[in-house]
Amino acid sequence: MNNCIIVTGGAGFIGSNFVNSWLKLGLGKVVNLDKLTYAGNLANLVDVEHHPEYVFVHGDIADQDLLAELLTEHQPNAVVNFAAESHVDRSIHGPEDFIQTNVVGTFHLLQAVRAYWSNLTTEHKQSFRFLHVSTDEVYGSLGKADAAFTETQPYAPNSPYSASKAASDHLVRAYHHTYGLPTLTTNCSNNYGPYHFPEKLIPLVIHNALAGKPLPIYGNGQQIRDWLYVEDHCAAIRTVLAAGRVGEVYNVGGWNEKPNIEVVKTLCRILDAKSPRNDGKPYADQIAFVEDRPGHDQRYAIDATKIANELGWKPKETFESGIEKTVNWYLENQDWVNNVSSGEYLNWVQTHYSERGEELA
Ligand code: NAD
Ligand code: TYD
Repeated sequence: MNNCIIVTGGAGFIGSNFVNSWLKLGLGKVVNLDKLTYAGNLANLVDVEHHPEYVFVHGDIADQDLLAELLTEHQPNAVVNFAAESHVDRSIHGPEDFIQTNVVGTFHLLQAVRAYWSNLTTEHKQSFRFLHVSTDEVYGSLGKADAAFTETQPYAPNSPYSASKAASDHLVRAYHHTYGLPTLTTNCSNNYGPYHFPEKLIPLVIHNALAGKPLPIYGNGQQIRDWLYVEDHCAAIRTVLAAGRVGEVYNVGGWNEKPNIEVVKTLCRILDAKSPRNDGKPYADQIAFVEDRPGHDQRYAIDATKIANELGWKPKETFESGIEKTVNWYLENQDWVNNVSSGEYLNWVQTHYSERGEELA
């Protein structure tokens, strides 16, 4: 059997961590299809760009012809779909791209994969998997005393982002039930770790703190998220891919519920110790409470019992160990952060490839 997978959105935060660790573990060939939106950054993949088992393709998951070509050429044994517009605040300002990629794009991807899968040999058909990476945000918002989300929680998305992800999850479910496509869906909580784009809370706070800028906290900062270290998430996806029951959904979480204000104060404390301000004052002085996000979900929490009981996956990192690793990474990779925040990486792609006499499609 061909030991190849196609990953979509592999130049983004979670996708690039996944591609890097997949290749490091020697698990086989990876074809990474990415549109390189503002969130896609090939600098996340410099360690593997010349790896003999790595292929990068610049393209859109909505491009069915390109997908058909890639599937025929590489004969993958799995497709792992990370590609998405992923930032809630952006979805509030401009929902259209979210519908286009998360809903229409996933639909075209499913169509192409179904056509490919239908023509496989019986053996290959049985081993093939389509794994869709989704979010806990599709379940809506919890009150303080509510039980954490299980896989049977009814969907109640509240933002254009979560609504578009919910729609994509429903399409994946329908392609399994209607056409028998061997799908797997993972719904995970908020990730953090290396290569996280500094528009999201944790990297934004680290970056702004070091740059002497305000640390914006929406509303009263009492909203709760369940933080999952990105490498733990990648391990969970590998586990589900290898052993998950076809057609099933697995919730993936870090068992780490924290109010936003606590996360920000923890980051400030770690930075005070590792990279103190020149004036000796605490980074927490930079905290600024700002207007709340419209429709801001109060609390997300994942009950990750099913994946633990059925597949034996548990996160390795506590919040304390994961956040320390994350701060260390950002302190050691200030060039990456500066490159991203200056927008320089967008030019970098062009420069990088033209230096090699290659054109990005
Ligand atoms: P990201 O925004 O960092 O990366 C998304 C990647 O997809 C980028 O490389 C982008 O260029 C690419 N992309 C966007 N539109 C595309 C298209 N039409 N065709 C091909 N590529 C396209 O996102 P992320 O944080 O890495 O999230 C990955 C997946 O995990 C998403 O599906 C997201 O909904 C889900 N998720 C993320 C989190 C989180 O905390 N980051 C939590 C739960 C679920
Ligand atoms: P974010 O990282 O955008 O992830 P999500 O909205 O998908 O959970 O935000 C995490 C939490 O932090 C969320 O409750 C919104 C809040 N937040 C702030 O308070 N300030 C900020 O500047 C950002 C980006 C987020």
